[in-house]
Amino acid sequence: MTGTAAVVTIRPARPSDAAAIAGLLAPYAAAGLVLPRTAEEIRHHVGRFLVAARGARARGKILGCVALRDYGAGLFEVRSLAVAQSENGSGLGSRLVAASVAGAKARGAHRVFALTLRPNLFRRLGFTVVEKELFPQKVWTDCKHCPKLHCCDEIAVLFDPK
Ligand SMILES: CC(C)(COP(=O)(O)OP(=O)(O)OC[C@H]1O[C@@H](n2cnc3c(N)ncnc32)[C@H](O)[C@@H]1OP(=O)(O)O)[C@@H](O)C(=O)NCCC(=O)NCCS
Repeated sequence: MTGTAAVVTIRPARPSDAAAIAGLLAPYAAAGLVLPRTAEEIRHHVGRFLVAARGARARGKILGCVALRDYGAGLFEVRSLAVAQSENGSGLGSRLVAASVAGAKARGAHRVFALTLRPNLFRRLGFTVVEKELFPQKVWTDCKHCPKLHCCDEIAVLFDPK
């Protein structure tokens, strides 16, 4: 591939991306790596999502996504991170997290956290591993619906973007 088509660009998601984002997340949700999200939920919260696609204007197939949830008081969560299998290990996951953190910083974030099975990816970007109990908001919204509530294997990571 040559020219801008080879470039993978990250941009804010549009409502028309919702089905593709849901399709990207679905196999990973089935494997218990991310929480399941319907296209309808994604469309409703589309302003939270960034996507990655080929071309300078990212018009091609969606190759990656990430969402940023605002809990208020400067606390944000990076979630729904996924990269197409064909692109795994290309650095795209790290780019998506970094772009999401930059978005949080621009919105005045004091703390950005994630629950992850890939702490090294976050550590390389400056996050540190912390106790999950630091984030009751997360526990009481999503975790109570999670099948892994009582056997959670995810690791909490935290970044102070200031
Ligand atoms: C997790 C996921 C998003 C990572 O995407 P990715 O594009 O492969 O991520 P990167 O290429 O940035 O990093 C992946 C690996 O590449 C290597 N790598 C990438 N950039 C590197 C760098 N600058 N230096 C050293 N190693 C690097 C590392 O081995 C890294 O693995 P590690 O994070 O376990 O150490 C992707 O594998 C995925 O979609 N997984 C399924 C969904 C999932 O698990 N989502 C939840 C994540 S919280």
